[in-house]
Amino acid sequence: MKIAILYISKHGTTEKIAKQIADALEKHECEVIDIKKHKHPDLGKFDYLILGSSIYAGKIQQSMNNFCHQHLSQLQPKVIGLFVCGMQPTEEQREQELIRAFPPELFERTTTKSFLGGEFLFEKMSIWERWIVRHISKVSNSISMINDNAVKQFIAKLQSHLFIASLDDTTSALDIDPLSETGEDDLPIEVFSGEMWECGMVKSLLEDAGIEAFLNNENFGNVAPWIAGAAVNVVVTKHHFQAASDIVQQFIKNNET
Ligand SMILES: Cc1cc2nc3c(=O)[nH]c(=O)nc-3n(C[C@H](O)[C@H](O)[C@H](O)COP(=O)(O)O)c2cc1C
Repeated sequence: MKIAILYISKHGTTEKIAKQIADALEKHECEVIDIKKHKHPDLGKFDYLILGSSIYAGKIQQSMNNFCHQHLSQLQPKVIGLFVCGMQPTEEQREQELIRAFPPELFERTTTKSFLGGEFLFEKMSIWERWIVRHISKVSNSISMINDNAVKQFIAKLQSHLFIASLDDTTSALDIDPLSETGEDDLPIEVFSGEMWECGMVKSLLEDAGIEAFLNNENFGNVAPWIAGAAVNVVVTKHHFQAASDIVQQFIKNNET
């Protein structure tokens, strides 16, 4: 699948994270595009798009805002991830900045969106920026507060989304006999379904055993199972189904006793 990560970065932090995401999506054809240099990239050639911008004075950079509005109709059906970089200290303020960052037309239809932290890089700031940071944030040295966990989670959700989207026909994929000899080895098969916490445990057990597993809701297409109460299932590739089933059976047995 062809993916573009479109970003804007003043001192390099958002660029660094954009490249980290691209590296993690190595299974796909992933292009990292600086929209300051490429104001009108050919969005038509990509299947999915991810947008990232840093926050200054509470807002995403003006060029990213302009870019979103200029290309809104092309972005809407393809954007699967939105991220921002910033140094807001409180969770509440970070959430507010994230919600306000991108146009609502993009924000509301995107399931994977996150505030990934940021850096103050004094050596790259102008005198004016240094003055602001010293006076407002009371920080006078370079500091990195990139939230590695948030970055990992963001990547995991994107991978899950892409894994499921990679199927041409999701319904038939669910219907196939997991033990049949025919069919492609990388077709996804549901191996367990249950409460969110159970699925989380099963996923960890499978991953500990070296089996890649994804969480999904019953709709097999909506990858937002993080919502409490949603019916969730665990999906593995057909290739790993048998080994995964053994682990699941053991998990069920242990939970019964
Ligand atoms: C002058 C200035 C103003 C900033 N204002 C904000 C802000 O309002 N909210 C925020 O979360 N981060 C703010 N930041 C932190 C930046 O978003 C952070 O340094 C980010 O990592 C920069 O990423 P970039 O190098 O990709 O542009 C500000 C930084 C500077 C230097």
